[in-house]
Amino acid sequence: MSTSRSDIFARTVETFLRPVLDPLRDPSVSEIMINGPADIYVERFGRVTRLAARFDSHEALMAAIRNVLQFSGKRITPESPLIDARLPDGSRVHVALEPVSLQGPCMCIRKFGKELLNMQALIDAGAMTPEAAEFLRLAVRAEQNLIVAGGTSSGKTTLLNALSTAIPNDQRIVVIEDSSELQLQQEHVLRMETRPPDRYGRGEVTIRDLFRSSLRLRPDRIVIGEVRGGEALDMIQAMTSGHGGSMSTLHATTPRDALNRLETLAMMARVDLPLFALRAQVASAIDLIVQVARLVDGTRRVTQISEVLPLENDEYRTTDLFTLDGATVEAAPAAAPSGADAGPRRDIRLKWTGEKPRFRHEPTARFLLDEAKLCREMFL
Ligand SMILES: Nc1ncnc2c1ncn2[C@@H]1O[C@H](COP(=O)(O)OP(=O)(O)OP(=O)(O)O)[C@@H](O)[C@H]1O
Ligand SMILES: [Mg+2]
Repeated sequence: MSTSRSDIFARTVETFLRPVLDPLRDPSVSEIMINGPADIYVERFGRVTRLAARFDSHEALMAAIRNVLQFSGKRITPESPLIDARLPDGSRVHVALEPVSLQGPCMCIRKFGKELLNMQALIDAGAMTPEAAEFLRLAVRAEQNLIVAGGTSSGKTTLLNALSTAIPNDQRIVVIEDSSELQLQQEHVLRMETRPPDRYGRGEVTIRDLFRSSLRLRPDRIVIGEVRGGEALDMIQAMTSGHGGSMSTLHATTPRDALNRLETLAMMARVDLPLFALRAQVASAIDLIVQVARLVDGTRRVTQISEVLPLENDEYRTTDLFTLDGATVEAAPAAAPSGADAGPRRDIRLKWTGEKPRFRHEPTARFLLDEAKLCREMFL
């Protein structure tokens, strides 16, 4: 019964989205950006290009948007011009309407990757080396608290998803997201999604609410899709009080920036915690920061893996364990159309710096030397 209902929706959504049906069906297109009826861009292999296709009119685009929202059980109301939704195939949709969107109704479709980009696929795509992948898998097993940091659309969620596969299958995992994207492969997974307030401002459930609730659900691990508010403080405190092996993503361009940003977000929780105390908690909560970036050549890569050390003179300190070797890398501007025609730079390589991770001495890491193959030297 419900299948046929969603089949009908799938078909009507396709009818309404006819102008972008080709890119929707083209597996090489990862994102479709509709900035008003006549201005449509797609991203393919990390490059953004403009399409000739257009919606017939403002009304035709609005009809398409209304239809997509209806499928997700969302409605357009004057109070909420910014709406998250989903296509029948699971693709993530964000809609921004007038008057906040100045160029007319705007819709961005992050296509649902049919093939899950797992660790091997990321290695094959050149996003990281087999050594770095093994190191990260072992760090996850060793219950390190880990943050994937990166700019918009740099591959944070994809990497978090891949990393989550290293969580042992016998652990109870709670996944908390704004808009469900992660696809954990384990058996024992509890998934929670936030809820916006209704039109009277009631019933909102935030990441912070979910996080607090999750602590009472006896998790072995907590995975938060993205930290972007006061929940940073709850997360940091949970991480320092024995919830090892938790992970999340964060919008930041360097590991140092990630630590500063966590601190700022934690301050949004408005508790009276002296700055040095908060800073000390951030430094002891986070073990590893994995930096990702979309580079000017269009590739998305892990650009750095850093270990967070205890504070020194109230300042953050990190040790770089892996860095990009052999090239100056420049992150591509977030959404700017990229006309660069330099092909992917295969010669850029994520390389071990020779620094050994401190966590190799921790009790949770005892198995490392027995199991590490490619990166054994790091744990000697
Ligand atoms: N290493 C990679 N190689 C190729 N494509 C990738 C890679 N990592 C991610 N992608 C693709 O790039 C797009 C953005 O990835 P993702 O959603 O993980 O980014 P994000 O940083 O979480 O974005 P946001 O800032 O919107 O949360 C997706 O279409 C994803 O499939
Ligand atoms: Mg994301």
